[in-house]
Amino acid sequence: MKVAIITGGAKGIGKAIGLKLASLNIDIALWDIIDEGDESAREVSSTHKVTARFYKVDVSNYNEVVDAVKKVLDDFKKIHIIVNNAGITRDGLLLRMKPEEWHSVLNVNLTGCFNCTKAVLKTMIAQRWGRIINISSVVGITGNPGQSNYAASKAGIIAFTKSVAKEVAKRNITANTIAPGFIETDMTLSLPDEVKEAYQKQIPVQRMGKPIDIANIAAFLVSEYASYITGQVINVDGGLVM
Ligand SMILES: NC(=O)c1ccc[n+]([C@@H]2O[C@H](COP(=O)([O-])OP(=O)(O)OC[C@H]3O[C@@H](n4cnc5c(N)ncnc54)[C@H](O)[C@@H]3O)[C@@H](O)[C@H]2O)c1
Repeated sequence: MKVAIITGGAKGIGKAIGLKLASLNIDIALWDIIDEGDESAREVSSTHKVTARFYKVDVSNYNEVVDAVKKVLDDFKKIHIIVNNAGITRDGLLLRMKPEEWHSVLNVNLTGCFNCTKAVLKTMIAQRWGRIINISSVVGITGNPGQSNYAASKAGIIAFTKSVAKEVAKRNITANTIAPGFIETDMTLSLPDEVKEAYQKQIPVQRMGKPIDIANIAAFLVSEYASYITGQVINVDGGLVM
C-alpha cells in the first residue's frame, strides 16, 4: 500500500487528487490549514476503503511541516508520494501590490513547496521510490497582469521541480509539474462573470476545467506508466497555452 501526502487537500483540486489516488488504493494524508480537511479525509476513506487522515499544517512554516512529516510517518510508516498543491492568490497590479502580498504568496506557493519536498525527501531516498508532483499554473509560463506574485511563485515551482528531478532521478524518484489552466474551484469562483466568460472564449475546448481533470494526470504521474517521465511540465488547460 502506498502513502500520499496532499497539501491544500481540504477542497478543490487537492481534495479531488485525494479522492482519485484513494481510488487507486493509496492511503492519503490530507494537509491543510482549514478544518474542512477533517470531513474531506472522512469522505476519502469512506468512499474508497483506504486510510485517510487530516493534518492541520501550514506549509509555509518549515517546523510545522517537519513535525507533520513525523506524525505521518508515525501513522503510516512510509511516504511514497507528495503532491504540493497548497496555493493562494493575492492579486493586484504591481504598482499597488504591497510587500506582504508578494511575500505571503511566495511563502505559501513556492517556499511551501520547498519545505514539504525537503521534509519528505530522506524518506523517499531510503525507500528508493518516490513521486513528487508540484502544482504550478499556466500563468507560471505565460505571466498574467495582476498576478506578478502568483506567476513568479508558479514559475519558481517549475524550475524547482526540474532541479529536484535532476538531483533525485537516480534514486528512483520522479518530480513533475502539473500546470492547470482555468479550473472550477473556490479560487476562480470569485472572479466576475465577464472575466470568466472572456477566459472561456480563449480555451480551445470551450470549457473550464474540473478538479478531476487535474487529478487524472496526478494519477498517471504516480503510476508505473509514468516511471520514465521526470522534470516535465504538463499543461492541463483545454489547449489554452500551446
Ligand atoms: N483553480 C484554478 O484555476 C487553478 C489554476 C492553476 C493552478 N491552480 C493551483 O492549484 C492549486 C489548488 O488550487 P484550488 O483551485 O483547488 O484552490 P482552493 O483555494 O480551492 O484550494 C487551495 C487549498 O490550499 C489550502 N491552503 C492555503 N494556504 C495553505 C497553507 N499555508 N498551508 C496549507 N494549505 C493551504 C487552502 O486552505 C485550500 O484548501 C493551487 O496551487 C493553485 O494555485 C489552480
